[in-house]
Amino acid sequence: AGCDLAIRGGTLVTASDQFRADLGIRDGKIVEIAAEIADAREEIDATGLMVLPGGIDAHVHLAQPTSDGTVMADDFLTGTRSAAAGGNTTVLPFALQVKGSSLRECLTAYHEKAEGACYTDVSFHLIVSDPTPQVLGQELPALVRDGYSSFKVFMTYDDLVLNDAELLDVFDVARRERALVMVHAEGHDAIKHMTRRLEEEGKTAPYYHAVAHHQIAEREATHRAISHAQLIDVPVMIVHVSGRDPMEQIQWAKKRGMKVFAETCPQYIVLTRDDLKGLNMDFEGAKYVCSPPPRDTDSQDAIWEGLRDGTFDVFSSDHCPFYFEGANETGKDNPRARTSFKWVPNGIPGVETRLPILFSEGVRKGRISIERFVALTSTNPAKLYGLYPQKGALVIGADADITLWDPERKAVITQASLNHGADYTPFEGMEIEGWPVRTILRGQTIAADGEVLEQGRAGRYLSRATSSAW
Ligand code: URP
Ligand code: ZN
Ligand code: ZN
Ligand code: ZN
Repeated sequence: AGCDLAIRGGTLVTASDQFRADLGIRDGKIVEIAAEIADAREEIDATGLMVLPGGIDAHVHLAQPTSDGTVMADDFLTGTRSAAAGGNTTVLPFALQVKGSSLRECLTAYHEKAEGACYTDVSFHLIVSDPTPQVLGQELPALVRDGYSSFKVFMTYDDLVLNDAELLDVFDVARRERALVMVHAEGHDAIKHMTRRLEEEGKTAPYYHAVAHHQIAEREATHRAISHAQLIDVPVMIVHVSGRDPMEQIQWAKKRGMKVFAETCPQYIVLTRDDLKGLNMDFEGAKYVCSPPPRDTDSQDAIWEGLRDGTFDVFSSDHCPFYFEGANETGKDNPRARTSFKWVPNGIPGVETRLPILFSEGVRKGRISIERFVALTSTNPAKLYGLYPQKGALVIGADADITLWDPERKAVITQASLNHGADYTPFEGMEIEGWPVRTILRGQTIAADGEVLEQGRAGRYLSRATSSAW
């Protein structure tokens, strides 16, 4: 039978191969991949373009409430619009359990905010901040079975940190339910100690965030998380790995055959701690404050090596957008944050620039192959978060989620050109080679040439299966 849409003349790229083929879509699914396919109702000429499985950003924060009066700059509407413009068809934001509240209750609020507001498909990771007997015994197991097959735990932040006993308890639930635990690995006490000492020395500028959140504290926590996972016998995903030292702990574990997985992000390959100095050790540096912070060029080199050799499985944005200015002291630049780096909200925007940065710096500059690019940004996250092969694959029967990529297109990242809600980009002025020219979700174009289509607001919620980590 005929297709609704034919994409002709492009180079299809998967996590393992690239080849010239036409691709046919019917009822939102890929139904044909062939040298030449019959006429379709609609045709797209992809000559000179790469045909990629849609980007899957497995680590974004949208509409997360904060406890300090600051406001996240993206809700589901603007966040997924930005994602679509950047070549993504699925995003995985977090549903944060507020301490003292039930996990299910918090999750319901995120569903309400996302309903009808999304340009891309969406699924939620849970954040467990209050592992009460009720949460561990009933809520969490029930939610995993309902298709929330991954959750994140924190080893730092006053209102999120779990102690070792709690981490072990949560890991145990993951083992019983075959969930994938994601760990924010930074040592809380080490950070607190460093923070106090820096403040006593009058070192309160945003730059000192990068000193307090030392790589040694990340290395230690990474090893501790890996040890706990080994003890419980559960796979673990170390998210937003920033540098050489924590990365070596992951290599240590992988070499021993442990099921340890790792994610890194654009900020760790193109920013360094020096960016936190701003113009002259001033508050501009707050634009780059995130945790873990960017490190140095030696760590950047290590991260590239890890992206190549399989130490990293997933490349996500950790899009966590705050305004810099922000009305009524809701942004990074608020009076309390001016008194100490420890009050600067942690996080930077990046869902729209993740794919262009990795393509330009990675594929164009010969550091990684295009197949590896697809694996890191789409196929692996689909597998590890239970969406494969519906997502992340160019195969018959998969959702027709496709990004048409122009490998030659030159662009400069500027705030004015982006669709996110934040009022700045930490990647301002970056020169890019390679850009997503069309994003297709289940056969429907949702973004083309930087324009996100209003009628493309057809994102759905995705219930997820068990992670391939199991
Ligand atoms: O600074 C960051 N990364 N903020 C987002 C929250 C997190 O830890 O991922
Ligand atoms: Zn984190
Ligand atoms: Zn994050
Ligand atoms: Zn921005």
